[in-house]
Amino acid sequence: MPTQKGLRSSRIRIHALLPVPAQPEASPYRGNCHIRSTFHLSQSATHIFKSSAEESFQTGVGNAEVFTLVHLAIECILAGNNGMFCSGGISKMKVLAINGSPRKKWNTGILLEKALEGAASVGAETELVHLYDLSFKGCTSCFACKLKDGRSYGKCAMRDGLTPVLDKVHSADALVLGSPIYFGTVTGEMRSCMERLLFPYLTYTRPPASLFGRKIPTAFIYTMNVPESMMKEHYHVHIEQNANVLSRMFGQTESLCSFETLQFEDYDTVVFNYVNPEDRRERRRTVFPEDCRKAFAMGARMAQTSL
Ligand SMILES: Cc1cc2nc3c(=O)[nH]c(=O)nc-3n(C[C@H](O)[C@H](O)[C@H](O)COP(=O)(O)O)c2cc1C
Repeated sequence: MPTQKGLRSSRIRIHALLPVPAQPEASPYRGNCHIRSTFHLSQSATHIFKSSAEESFQTGVGNAEVFTLVHLAIECILAGNNGMFCSGGISKMKVLAINGSPRKKWNTGILLEKALEGAASVGAETELVHLYDLSFKGCTSCFACKLKDGRSYGKCAMRDGLTPVLDKVHSADALVLGSPIYFGTVTGEMRSCMERLLFPYLTYTRPPASLFGRKIPTAFIYTMNVPESMMKEHYHVHIEQNANVLSRMFGQTESLCSFETLQFEDYDTVVFNYVNPEDRRERRRTVFPEDCRKAFAMGARMAQTSL
């Protein structure tokens, strides 16, 4: 297959939402199904069709629909478009970031923005959601997401300000969470969001499985007052726990920590002798920019992984 000038990548992603026919009861596939496959442009059309057909076999989507999609995708490649292909059109890969800090433009918010800038630099469409703008609650143990043949099986049945965010995650190609450390773990809002996001996808089976249905790269950005050594001693267990559940639900994940952050605009106005404020200001000038670079690179890496 010929490659085209102007393509940023030698790969193309086929991404389609198709109705899934009736499935055996045990199947996790219900309603609509995402077909997502990545192909190298050097691969032949036959290969692309074969792989898509294999995927369609697993999900129950008919070969005819997949053939139409692949045919259109090949036209897109020939037209020089390296975006993702959706049924009916082209869409860019979507990277969603969720900010669990009440301060939109402070440490956590800045690092999340950098991660999204990195993702955008390789062609992704990005969105940043601030949890503190939303009115929502954590999981209420209604268990609608666990009911046999339930309408909300695998999905959170609660309806409030977080519902549109959970819907966005459902169609995202990469997800970045960010939170300051409050009393040794993430903020209450981030915790509530995680309960609603993760619990519906988790099956109470041995071994536990994910109902998310596909793999997307995820990351968690943490910012905190303490130095790295104290994080390792006291907070590491939470960070590892979060990484563990994210990887089980979504696939590969990474964590990025920013330590000894600047906490106050003006340290002279607050009662504070925990550390020397000048050290914090110096760190902000010298170390935080490096954290920003790491966040940018991580965002770009995640977007490339998902392309
Ligand atoms: C209520 C509260 C609790 C905090 N608890 C901790 C903590 O346990 N450990 C820590 O290292 N920093 C703690 N911090 C500091 C913040 O984690 C740190 O300043 C963070 O970078 C703030 O993020 P932001 O700039 O995005 O708001 C706390 C801050 C607040 C407001």
